[in-house]
Formats: sequence, structure tokens, C-alpha cells
Amino acid sequence: MRVKLVVGNWKMNGALATNAALLDRLVSGAGAVERGKQLAVCVPYPYLAQARERLAGTPVAWGAQDVSERSAGAFTGDVSAGMIAEFGCRYVIVGHSERRQVHGETDAVVAAKAQAVLGAGLTPIACVGETLAEREAGLTETVAGRQLDEVIESLGAGITRIVVAYEPVWAIGTGRTATPEQAQDVHAFLRTRLARAGGGQVPLLYGGSVKAANAAALFAMQDVDGGLVGGASLDADEFLAIGHA
Ligand code: PGA
Repeated sequence: MRVKLVVGNWKMNGALATNAALLDRLVSGAGAVERGKQLAVCVPYPYLAQARERLAGTPVAWGAQDVSERSAGAFTGDVSAGMIAEFGCRYVIVGHSERRQVHGETDAVVAAKAQAVLGAGLTPIACVGETLAEREAGLTETVAGRQLDEVIESLGAGITRIVVAYEPVWAIGTGRTATPEQAQDVHAFLRTRLARAGGGQVPLLYGGSVKAANAAALFAMQDVDGGLVGGASLDADEFLAIGHA
């Protein structure tokens, strides 16, 4: 059975004091998360130690939002997967559309990052998704398929050990969520692609303006195994409600 997973992506938000309150509330509220289900938060690097301190031994896992594809050396400002692993992380997001758009990450770089994460014994959450212009041009499957294929080719048998997040760029932070049917269509397409490569059991998350009010309908879709949640993950009660959905 595929794991059900809800992951919070804090993006570049947080402060020690507010994080502490948020994490503690998550821990107290997550007690009721059922078996076979997982809740996690991906926090900015400086807060990984705090996440470990507050979340170790609880049902809530933690991780990072990006990683270098390289293992060490003269790469000022970069952080390796090995460093992240030392903080007890389980997940690392790779290929988020904000990394692709703002930092010019290519499909090849994203695939190399996924490989680095696996190499450190962690689970990459590989993001794929089309822009509004690409959707309107009928290119959704072309773009998401191309982004996924690069990861599949690069990881080989490792494909069984990842998580994939479908995040239509037009739905991220816009309040405009894909309908459950739109999400299901793309997820079914990605599932077929993954299954052909031996990754049929890979959890497939939907991301893009997920909130408590729409989570249940999205998660009820056959190929939607959970969510990658941005804005709503900064509110503990909202995030817990999504987790329970
Ligand atoms: P959002 O972000 O939930 O704020 O739309 C999702 C994401 O970027 O992962």
C-alpha cells in the first residue's frame, strides 16, 4: 500500500520563537495521525537543528527544501546532502518550481540533486509541474513528463525510494487550486510513467494552494497520496487539519 503523506514547505519563513510554538503545536496535535500516514515539515537550513530538537521521537518527520548536487568543496553558500543527513532529516525537496524559476535549475540539475539525496540515505521529494502558459498551450503532460523522465533515468532502480510532488506552477501561492479532477488526470499520467520504471508505489503528492477546505476532495482522488503544502503549513491548526484529511 502506498504511504499517505502530507509535507509542509515553510519556504523562506520562520523565526526561532514562532517555529517553537508551531512545532510544539504540531507535535501535540499529530498524536492522532493514523498508521500508514506521515506528517513532515521541510524547514530552512538554519532551523534543521531546532526541528530535530522539537520533533525527534514524535510522529512528525522533518527535512530541507533544497540541496547541492555536489558532495563537498569550493561551493560557497551551498549545503550538501551529507550535512542535511546529520540533522536527522528524512526528506529533501528538489526541483521546486521556485528553484527552477528563480535559480534557473534545469531538469538535469534537479535529477543530480535527487541522486545526491538518495546517496545520503534520505528521501527526495521531486517536484514537477507546468506553468499557466504551458497548460494553456496543452503542454502539461509534455512538461511534467519531461521533468519526471530526467529523474527516472538518473535514479534507475532508486526510483522506488522517492516521493514525487505534482505542483502546477499556476496554483502555487495563488489561491487557485487545481480541481481534484485536474490533479487526478496528471497524477494518473505520472503514475503510469513511474510504474513503467518500477516505481508504481511511489507516493504522489499534490501541491498548490492546498488548505483544510480543499484537502479532503483532493486526497480522495485515486492517485493523490497526499500534499505538499506551502502557505497553509505555517498555521499549525490548518496544517493539522490537512494532515487529518
Ligand atoms: P502553496 O505552496 O501551498 O503556498 O501554494 C505550495 C508549494 O510551493 O509547495
